[in-house]
Amino acid sequence: MSHPLKNDRYIKACLQQPVDRTPIWMMRQAGRYLPEYRQLRAEAGSFMDLCTNPELACEVTLQPLRRYPLDAAILFSDILTIPDAMGLGLYFTPGEGPAFRKPVRSEADVKALPIPDPYQELKYVTDAVSTIRRELKGEVPLIGFSGSPWTLATYMVEGGTTKNFSEVKGLMYKEPAIMHQLLDKLADSIIVYLNAQVESGAQALMIFDTWGGVLSPRDYQEFSLRYMQKIVDGLKREHEGQQIPVTLFTKGGGAWLDIMAATGCDCLGVDWTTDLADARAKVAGKVALQGNMDPSILYASDERIREEVATILASYGKGSGHVFNLGHGIHQTVEPEKAGVFIQSVHELSKAYHT
Ligand code: CP3
Repeated sequence: MSHPLKNDRYIKACLQQPVDRTPIWMMRQAGRYLPEYRQLRAEAGSFMDLCTNPELACEVTLQPLRRYPLDAAILFSDILTIPDAMGLGLYFTPGEGPAFRKPVRSEADVKALPIPDPYQELKYVTDAVSTIRRELKGEVPLIGFSGSPWTLATYMVEGGTTKNFSEVKGLMYKEPAIMHQLLDKLADSIIVYLNAQVESGAQALMIFDTWGGVLSPRDYQEFSLRYMQKIVDGLKREHEGQQIPVTLFTKGGGAWLDIMAATGCDCLGVDWTTDLADARAKVAGKVALQGNMDPSILYASDERIREEVATILASYGKGSGHVFNLGHGIHQTVEPEKAGVFIQSVHELSKAYHT
């Protein structure tokens, strides 16, 4: 199954090894801003119909790579596959985002949660990974992913998206022991899930901690970082003689990059509220950095996009260890041509930063 990678810039940059230019991929690069995605989704039915069909998930993963010279592919799936496989009943309502039929609210609810088998209940994911890996033919590496325990817990306890996190923070402050049981079970589920993605062909891993930034510094360490640490410690970091870089991304976590780097991960995702020069100084060579253009810049003129790319490249400075990305997912109303301008700018302007 293993083709040698034709383009390994992304892997090398994650491991801080020399590259000829800064690699780039975009969070949510396969999705609704692409007309070909919207067409396939309309034919398939729902988003989950795409995710649960390995051939369709593979097709959607490859769509952005046909349009743009990206340096990595990311598995087309969702972070909520684990809670769904635990039996919570995931569904999506247009305009309101994801929700669960059976939210987790009590100790009995937590105790009843199974650890899903990645080759049974989540077989559609591991099958999608092996299908995509085969179809990529070694062109670029495939990134597998999961949500962080804290981020998954927010959706599971709230029963969907939330503005003030009252249910999940209520449980955390009223019944911290139950919250810890839930987070620990999620960490165990994520470890087997991500290791199965690696065994199925994922060449790098990323953990999305979308909601870590809503916690106080003390609670972030106790309820989010501690469980990401458990995951980093439990992951397969090498497969078929290749190192598997691990990226942690806490949105709004710019103040905590030093303690995140101390987990032993390889790379940290950074959103646009942190300057990359400050981030680089803070992590002091321990890890690579991924990011960090505001996705809304893609609404600007071509010149403004190019200027922002130049600013971010200059901010990181010379040398390897930077993976260019947006600071969060691409918005669905962005014109696909603007993503092209963005990617082309990174290609052209980043050469000067590598010798
Ligand atoms: O980055 C990629 O291209 C890989 C695919 C991917 C998706 N979701 C596809 C998706 C990844 C990595 C995710 C992660 C994810 N899912 C996160 C963490 C990253 C982040 O954005 O902070 C979160 C919080 C979710 C939960 C989730 N799933 C939300 C909030 C939504 C949007 C719901 C909506 O109606 O806007 C989803 C659905 C989803 N996941 C879509 C895609 C392409 C849109 C589905 C569609 O309507 O076609």
